[in-house]
Amino acid sequence: MEFFQEFCAVISHSNLTETIHDIWVHSPKAAAAALPGQFVNIKVKGFFLRRPISICEVSSDALRLVFEERGEGTKALGGIMPGDGLDVLGPLGNRGFSTDKYESAILVGGGIGTPPLKFCRNSLNKSAAVLGFRNEAQVIMAGEFANVQVCTDDGSRGHHGNIKKPLEKFLKTGSYEAVFACGPKPMLRAVVALAEKYNVPVEISLEERMACGVGACLGCTCKTVVGNTASYPRVCKDGPVFDGKAAVLC
Ligand SMILES: Cc1cc2nc3c(=O)[nH]c(=O)nc-3n(C[C@H](O)[C@H](O)[C@H](O)COP(=O)(O)OP(=O)(O)OC[C@H]3O[C@@H](n4cnc5c(N)ncnc54)[C@H](O)[C@@H]3O)c2cc1C
Ligand code: FES
Repeated sequence: MEFFQEFCAVISHSNLTETIHDIWVHSPKAAAAALPGQFVNIKVKGFFLRRPISICEVSSDALRLVFEERGEGTKALGGIMPGDGLDVLGPLGNRGFSTDKYESAILVGGGIGTPPLKFCRNSLNKSAAVLGFRNEAQVIMAGEFANVQVCTDDGSRGHHGNIKKPLEKFLKTGSYEAVFACGPKPMLRAVVALAEKYNVPVEISLEERMACGVGACLGCTCKTVVGNTASYPRVCKDGPVFDGKAAVLC
């Protein structure tokens, strides 16, 4: 896949929560080439390694990126302002979610795993979404999805509990061809198990610590098993989206 290094102007910056930032950057080449599920690698001033952030959605010449402050790099990135420049490498990743293969899907997001699913929603004819968060204060982007069921661990909004019951409800309808998911590993395990139960194809986006982001350092391998054959693909270059039934989630 072709990717580009662009020096992008930040168009807008808003906050979805105190620590979750929502930015649009002018990045015409990456926006034209991007597929749902791909990511960009961002140079943060003062840090050697770039930070990988999923592409939340695209316009004709811009990328939307939604990121959470986790460590020093994303905290520094949170300080950028409209008009600032950003060094962006992307779109990265060999394949995204198969929105070209399926017309409908159930989108399952956990916390900061939600943003890349917006790009899927925009690319599908029909979708439902199950979005899980710790509590109401952490809920982001719920109004941006169709047929959405929000779940919170403490019951402060929507379904009280994890994503399993609402996901099963959508699966039982038999109205969706696939499940696309992004979020923490325990959630992904539950999503894959339910999709297998209903014999529905499932694709998951994996997150590993990354260095180069372009397949050169082997720092981000994961394990997949198809039949009796195990392989160790790179999340950055061969993913980050994998067949949920092949990925080993340990
Ligand atoms: C493919 C992919 C897509 C991602 N998309 C998003 C997104 O859309 N929004 C979002 O908020 N976060 C996303 N992340 C996680 C994000 O990259 C990390 O939170 C961020 O790199 C942490 O950097 P830091 O400097 O704040 O933390 P530090 O802990 O200071 O980072 C130190 C180093 O570890 C790496 N690192 C740390 N945590 C992670 C992690 N969880 N995954 C990968 N590398 C990590 C950093 O790149 C850096 O090299 C994504 C990660 C991957 C792999
Ligand atoms: S981060 Fe270097 S190979 Fe994936």
